[in-house]
Amino acid sequence: MHPMRQDLEEVLLTEEQIRHRLDDLAMEIQRDYAEKDLTLVAILTGSVMFIADLLRRLPMQLRLDYVGVSSYHGETRSTGELILTKALKLDVRDRDVLVVDDILDTGLTLVNIRAMLQKLQPQSVKFCTFLEKDIPHRENFQADYVGFHIPNKFVVGYGLDYRERYRNLPYVGTLRPEAIAAKL
Ligand code: XMP
Repeated sequence: MHPMRQDLEEVLLTEEQIRHRLDDLAMEIQRDYAEKDLTLVAILTGSVMFIADLLRRLPMQLRLDYVGVSSYHGETRSTGELILTKALKLDVRDRDVLVVDDILDTGLTLVNIRAMLQKLQPQSVKFCTFLEKDIPHRENFQADYVGFHIPNKFVVGYGLDYRERYRNLPYVGTLRPEAIAAKL
């Protein structure tokens, strides 16, 4: 058992479930971009595990860049504030861009990223998110590829953090109240 398992209330997605879903997701992306020149743009830091596992399943030529945004400041809910911590390095003009993120919650992050990218005049921009939360109110935003739909709960693991911890947990779960209360 993983040492962090004791801090979890519930496991939502196992490593095996994630592996299987990623196989299918990567096939979908590969099929859609087979004739294109793909530029992947990963949103740090939450997408690290997802992008690594996705990359190794994509056999075609592609380029990878990342942007850093921070919207959570040690809390378990969004503050609505976005800080760009790392700008894009590659030129995406006339390119087919696929943005890869960890989780779609209110949509605020990806609405902002979309606006930022559109100014750079890419050929196309699509969005792939590992998780999509089932929430009643979302910004005007829809992802093109979704790994899993999950209930509206705060989750950790597989890149997702609570106060920068639990990113290295290889699967996804919810935290026990004791773990949320404990200040590591
Ligand atoms: P928005 O609301 O902009 O949120 O769609 C996307 C970003 O918010 C963070 N987020 C979470 N992080 N567990 C986390 O560890 C969660 O349940 C969660 N929900 C949202 C995350 O950084 C994501 O990119």
